Amino acid sequence: MTIRLEESTDWQAIYTIYVAAFGQSAEADLVRNMHNDGDLLLSLTAYNDDPAGHIAYSHLVLHQTPGIRACVLAPLAIAPAFQKQGIGAALVRHSLKRLTESGYDLVVVLGEPHYYGRFGFDPKLAEKLKTPYDGPYLQALALSDRGKGANGPVSYARAFAELN
Ligand SMILES: CC(C)(COP(=O)(O)OP(=O)(O)OC[C@H]1O[C@@H](n2cnc3c(N)ncnc32)[C@H](O)[C@@H]1OP(=O)(O)O)[C@@H](O)C(=O)NCCC(=O)NCCS
Repeated sequence: MTIRLEESTDWQAIYTIYVAAFGQSAEADLVRNMHNDGDLLLSLTAYNDDPAGHIAYSHLVLHQTPGIRACVLAPLAIAPAFQKQGIGAALVRHSLKRLTESGYDLVVVLGEPHYYGRFGFDPKLAEKLKTPYDGPYLQALALSDRGKGANGPVSYARAFAELN
């Protein structure tokens, strides 16, 4: 299994993986729309001969602390045949390392605390933010000391507004 930047030839397979993993097209449409809008700041594919999984990140605007470089992890999916083999964890760890090296301060995710807690994501840190997704599934991870100071209202990429 290898991880590399998504290539344009991956998109059909990526769309299919999201639909199969989630059993609906909302997440597949989200990642496609963000791609078409130019809003993906990091898009990685895990390969096992064919694409087996994908992870996407988009910008998050922090209105009260604009000096903090923040992003959103969403979506993430592994093709059903490849789940629970560590590929999702590898994609998350690899991408967080890249984001840290690129100078990002904060990552926000909406998901299962049981899964994301293992990477250091914490609902408590996210409680200081004002988002459309506030609640126990919203978690944040500071990649720098500066990231710990994030607070207040945020704006997600445009495509999130089209989610139900
Ligand atoms: C969730 C998902 C990305 C995890 O990737 P993966 O490669 O299957 O998982 P890993 O091998 O890295 O880790 C396995 C762990 O994830 C847990 N896990 C798998 N799917 C999960 C889910 N939907 N919710 C919570 N935990 C999940 C497993 O129980 C296992 O936990 P354990 O280590 O405590 O036993 C993948 O299963 C998937 O695409 N699921 C469907 C889509 C989805 O729910 N995406 C999450 C977006 S927020």
